[in-house]
Amino acid sequence: MSDEDYGEFGTARSPVSALPETGERELETALRPRRLSEFIGQARVREQLELVLESAKRRGRPPDHVLLSGPPGLGKTSLSMIIAEELNSTIRITSGPALERAGDLAAMLSNLAEGDVLFIDEIHRIARPAEEMLYMAMEDFRVDVVVGKGPGATSIPLEIAPFTLVGATTRSGALTGPLRDRFGFTGHMEFYEPEELEQVLHRSAAILGVPIEPDGAAEIARRSRGTPRIANRLLRRVRDYAEVRADGVVTLETARAALEVYDVDELGLDRLDRAVLKALVESFGGGPVGVSTLAVAVGEEAATVEEVCEPYLVRAGMLARTPRGRVATPAAWRHLGLIPPKEQPEAPTLFD
Ligand SMILES: Nc1ncnc2c1ncn2[C@@H]1O[C@H](COP(=O)(O)OP(=O)(O)O)[C@@H](O)[C@H]1O
Ligand SMILES: [Mg+2]
Repeated sequence: MSDEDYGEFGTARSPVSALPETGERELETALRPRRLSEFIGQARVREQLELVLESAKRRGRPPDHVLLSGPPGLGKTSLSMIIAEELNSTIRITSGPALERAGDLAAMLSNLAEGDVLFIDEIHRIARPAEEMLYMAMEDFRVDVVVGKGPGATSIPLEIAPFTLVGATTRSGALTGPLRDRFGFTGHMEFYEPEELEQVLHRSAAILGVPIEPDGAAEIARRSRGTPRIANRLLRRVRDYAEVRADGVVTLETARAALEVYDVDELGLDRLDRAVLKALVESFGGGPVGVSTLAVAVGEEAATVEEVCEPYLVRAGMLARTPRGRVATPAAWRHLGLIPPKEQPEAPTLFD
């Protein structure tokens, strides 16, 4: 299970949302890079991880626990699988929300073999009792399992094979301090540069057997919100368009026409991104406004607005997070075809 499986993010999103539609998951699996050397971009995280893995291999010990943080679709799940692959280990996959009871985690932990990688996706959503059990498991490779209830309850110590925990989160700030402290390494995933997304697109097109021209790839890359998952999704939509309305080749022309049909604008903003900006500007005068108020205005969950939309809007220079709330930048007003307030002519006052 992975973040892709959470229904709540999957609702009411446009075809280019950061999380995949069902039925496209198999395709996504086929497009995942398998080795660190195939993993495009994230030079910093890649170099850091290479060192962590290589030195662990030389010492013949499982590496320190790894936390990967960043917005959806940047390659956290792919990297965790690569970590297992590079270590020649088996990966066991679960997620924070699936670990509701400490017993669920105990069962998972007791089944680990030495050197296994345990991947916990959306680890910030783990329930408290499971989280506390995880502290001990990460530090001492043992847990205390409580059997029975009330005065008769006893706790049985349970040894766990030395393993490596890889946690992924879209909100590292939501992790408790004690949990964060138990990771030996945190990789912060950044949005990708358009040139890196071009490479992702050429690789994916080759795997899917889609003919693509460099201009076509550049256009899709530019409009993919810095996110490989979105680049891959847009590639498939442009391919559909190219097959139905043209000769099947992804060119600059087919890319532009298709992205127009799918409501992806010049900056790659999708419907929800634009709805957030519009609400901010039109209903709240550009802010500041709290994120939950903004989320209600666009009919989305606050978490989706905060974790899926905002990071890219901030990065694109459209939105600022201030202590008093979210604020639209002048660029956001202009992007919506409006004049930013400071540049608007002053309204005449009574005394003029
Ligand atoms: N660095 C990369 N190079 C090539 N493809 C990538 C890369 N990162 C992500 N992808 C593609 O994007 C998709 C989503 O990545 P994923 O690892 O599921 O992201 P996350 O877990 O952060 O949401 C993958 O299926 C893969 O095809
Ligand atoms: Mg994932």
